[in-house]
Amino acid sequence: KFGISPNLSSCHSSFANPVLVSMPVYCCPPNIESDEQIIDFEFPDPSEQLRIRKRAHMRDSDYIAKYASALSIMKSLPYDDPRSFARQADVHCIYCTGSYNKKHSNEFLNVHRSWFFFPWHRMYIYFHERILASLIDDDTFSLSFWNWDTPAGMVMPDMYFQEPFLDTERSDKHIHRPRVVNLDYNLVEINRTSEEQISHNLAVMYHQVVSGAKKMELFMGCIYKSGINGSCDGAGTVEQAPHDSLHGWVGKESNRYLEHMGVFYAAARDPIFFAHHANLDRIWNVWEELRNNEPEIVDPDWLDSYFFFHNEKSQLVRIKVRDVLNMTKLRYGYEKVDNLWLNARP
Ligand code: C2O
Repeated sequence: KFGISPNLSSCHSSFANPVLVSMPVYCCPPNIESDEQIIDFEFPDPSEQLRIRKRAHMRDSDYIAKYASALSIMKSLPYDDPRSFARQADVHCIYCTGSYNKKHSNEFLNVHRSWFFFPWHRMYIYFHERILASLIDDDTFSLSFWNWDTPAGMVMPDMYFQEPFLDTERSDKHIHRPRVVNLDYNLVEINRTSEEQISHNLAVMYHQVVSGAKKMELFMGCIYKSGINGSCDGAGTVEQAPHDSLHGWVGKESNRYLEHMGVFYAAARDPIFFAHHANLDRIWNVWEELRNNEPEIVDPDWLDSYFFFHNEKSQLVRIKVRDVLNMTKLRYGYEKVDNLWLNARP
């Protein structure tokens, strides 16, 4: 068995940027998680109403008020509480900077730049969404997605300019309205008119999801296993851009590591993170539909790899990749939108 899982008692300090030797960071929980009672993931009740995640830029004020109150409560919880916003942000830090060792190994576990990118982030925002919902006692609450792949969504959505969605650690150059995002930004400014940028973005999407991602590994990232020769370092097309590129585009230039959004350890401190990842999660599903929903990977080393998250009852849950391959079973879905870029073949 060469699946991946963390050793919960191994949490240690790590580096802001796991690729470059850089500033040490520490994001481990205040208690030893391996002492906690662990439960296996169970699907939500199939009768539960489907939570439909919708476009952030189209949300109405009632929704925004609900989300605002849930997020404010989450931000006010003490750090000891695993449901708190700060702890959730640190879960991302732990798994994305290599703070845990892999089970039975001294190697660091990192969920980025491999085929765990999509399923791990799906799990992460799934629990985040359900915690938010429980804090306002509303089973229908859903996250929103930043629909940056459609022209009307190519600026930072309005709601993120107000508390509690506001984050002061964001780019000074990019987020002011109506600056159009650059979906393959690589820290170099390119002067394009809004129209040029929009059609460039659609072409980027077409390449990253359609023409450049015909094989499983191109889209999902490299095959990462434990054991000999298990490590790999190869992000899928969409993880490179728009994922990484938009993280860098949102982060603040005057911070050394482009905090918050521009660096793994701090990225999830910005509430826009969850809308960014909801869109990535949606696009994973679009890519699967393009392949007629054939199972992308049947390797048990992927399917049986597992990670741990706290749920809305603060229980530590062990969840496998195979548990998150069907959104309906997880009782959520996405509002149908036009993916204009599907027709943006150059
Ligand atoms: Cu784990 Cu967008 O990052």
